[in-house]
Amino acid sequence: MLVIRAPGRVNLIGDHTDYQDGLCLPMAIDREVEVRARERGDGLVVARSDAIGGVVELPADGTTDPASVEPRWGRSIAAVLQALAERGRSPIGFDMEVSSTVPLGSGLSSSAAFTVAVVIAAAEIGRFALDRRSIALAAQAAEQRATGLPCGVMDQMASVFGRAGHALLLDCRSLDIEAVPLPESAAVVVVHTGVPRRLEDSAYAERRSACEAAAAHLGVATLRDATPAQVADDPFARHVVSENQRVVTFVDALRAGDLDRCGRLMGASHESLRDDFRVSTHALDALVDALVDAGAYGARLTGAGFGGCVVGLVAGDAVDAVIARALARYRSTTGLTPMPIVVHAVDGAGRVD
Ligand code: GLA
Repeated sequence: MLVIRAPGRVNLIGDHTDYQDGLCLPMAIDREVEVRARERGDGLVVARSDAIGGVVELPADGTTDPASVEPRWGRSIAAVLQALAERGRSPIGFDMEVSSTVPLGSGLSSSAAFTVAVVIAAAEIGRFALDRRSIALAAQAAEQRATGLPCGVMDQMASVFGRAGHALLLDCRSLDIEAVPLPESAAVVVVHTGVPRRLEDSAYAERRSACEAAAAHLGVATLRDATPAQVADDPFARHVVSENQRVVTFVDALRAGDLDRCGRLMGASHESLRDDFRVSTHALDALVDALVDAGAYGARLTGAGFGGCVVGLVAGDAVDAVIARALARYRSTTGLTPMPIVVHAVDGAGRVD
């Protein structure tokens, strides 16, 4: 029996930058997908999930069109088999059981974690060597095919390259990663707004195209190459360029232990995502305000936006009090039911021995 785990992620700062070759600062979190797999001899992949239910049965050779697979969670498996077949994996079948502690549809990359776990399981069982960067890229390609969403590479890279106690400064152009230690005095708090999110329904693809159009208009390969002056009059592009700069400044502040400054940068990032990039919601804004008023250093929406979660940076010894105050206020102003999770940075995906 092969057991693979792959963590979800939370992004501390740097959203809607990855698909423009930009910078971001995710960390892999102690919420993860586990896949238990065993080879079978008939060339089929048969998958079961304890949480979602239903059985997925597919030929292992990658010939199934992901869009035709029901139940829907099987689409990622079909897409992984397709992506790996194209890269040369032989069609060896396996049984697979899936379980997960990553909340679904919340912006914590439950689907990227799942896809990464399936890539590693399928590669190991197929005796197909893939380096870690190729695992992340194959998982990204598979996720794009399974969902039709043109996602960037942040989530898969975070799930693969996570490091305990560290955030990851990811350069989405070179794919270089620098692990940045998280101060022990600070806690990272994720709070779900209580409003689910489905990215396929969101304006994610529209925003991505708008960025591509802005880059083309400026004559640069991506907005990574644009200057603040060049994008001063274009709110979408302005967000991307200013967000890259905030990631760099945030990392400096984190290394210096200046958590107040980190918090202010998170606030500026949220404002830019809300006002310039327009991916926030009333619930996200209310939750960010509630956390900051309750004493967090800072808070911002995390991931794509349009619902899902916010991330806050809070003094370790004040976590419980800050969460209690923020949640009470959020409940009374919105009538929604938030869900808090204190997360810890963990190592990236791999085999559990
Ligand atoms: C989603 C995508 C990522 C990234 C974020 C926004 O999580 O999957 O690639 O674009 O949104 O930063």
